[in-house]
Amino acid sequence: MDSRVDDPLILAIESSCDETSASVLCGRTVLSNVIATQKIHEKYGGVVPELASRAHQAKIVPVVDQALQEAGIDKSQLHAVAFTQGPGLMGALLVGSSFAKSLALGLNIPLIGVHHMEAHILAHFIRNKEERYPQFPFLCLTVSGGHTQIVHVKSASEFEIVGETIDDAAGEAFDKAAKVLGLPYPGGPMIDRLAATGDPSAFHFTTPRLPDFNYSFSGLKTNLLYFLREKNAADATFIERELPNICASYQRTITEYLTSRFFAAAGNLKIKTLALAGGVSANSELRRRVLEYGDKNGYDVFIPAFEFCTDNAAMIGISAHYKYLEGRFCDLRATPSASMKM
Ligand code: KG4
Ligand code: ZN
Repeated sequence: MDSRVDDPLILAIESSCDETSASVLCGRTVLSNVIATQKIHEKYGGVVPELASRAHQAKIVPVVDQALQEAGIDKSQLHAVAFTQGPGLMGALLVGSSFAKSLALGLNIPLIGVHHMEAHILAHFIRNKEERYPQFPFLCLTVSGGHTQIVHVKSASEFEIVGETIDDAAGEAFDKAAKVLGLPYPGGPMIDRLAATGDPSAFHFTTPRLPDFNYSFSGLKTNLLYFLREKNAADATFIERELPNICASYQRTITEYLTSRFFAAAGNLKIKTLALAGGVSANSELRRRVLEYGDKNGYDVFIPAFEFCTDNAAMIGISAHYKYLEGRFCDLRATPSASMKM
């Protein structure tokens, strides 16, 4: 007999990269969403996989405890446990998946494996005050530290990649630029902040035109590196003096490149609902560009709340919610996958 309920209490765990996060959802309502960001990577200018795994191990128990406590839920009340199955760092994923499996086994409740990028997209369906959610089908620009994809979202379980990066992700383009500019990791938020006082047309960087709706970001960081080397050779104070202008120009290049392909894909597919997802969707200029375009051209635009842009377990929980309703559970043999396909 099927004992599934309509508004399940789901504990979700996210551990794909450098955030250890746990969240409890009741139906589509988030009861708690605890995120412990690993500070240890800052001094290395990027995530060190082995250190990430160890930090997840140290934090997973207190983070899950806190999520249950803030939700006011005892673990015996849970209907399912969800975890990020991939893509992500293998050692980091293993910590979350092993923990989720043990808990599901101990409580004798279903286990749900979630695709991290699908979860970024489905974060739009977390219950919000405005009760405003995208209608299917919609086109989502999913931009994070590891991915850059234009996704045709046909339902909560059907995703088609229309275009994607052939090398670096948009988030990496921000993070690598920050590194050469001497800014801390992660670079995106810092560049965003500095760009606010800079002139976006001060400098010009180039991006390649690829066929279809694909992107390439690896040349852009090299372009910046050579530009800085040349300027620095002539004037050692160049970066210091021009930092806001460099950030604003670099950010304009990335966001113009991202949105031009995204809008072209929407026109091509005749889709009138646009959405942003992933850590880079926290970028103020990207948000502004998409909103402005939607306003001018009659598109419905959806941008996640800041707390659900960067990695968090609530998005894993909402994805698990839909899987739960369809009975898409996994068994204890499920293994995490570093490069899981959508
Ligand atoms: O989705 P996310 O939290 O983790 C991954 O799944 O990768 O995305 C992290 C990325 C980092 O590259 C970070 O620099 C970028 O999101 N990011 C931003 C901003 N906030 C975070 N990039 C540009 N502007 C921001 N405000
Ligand atoms: Zn992510």
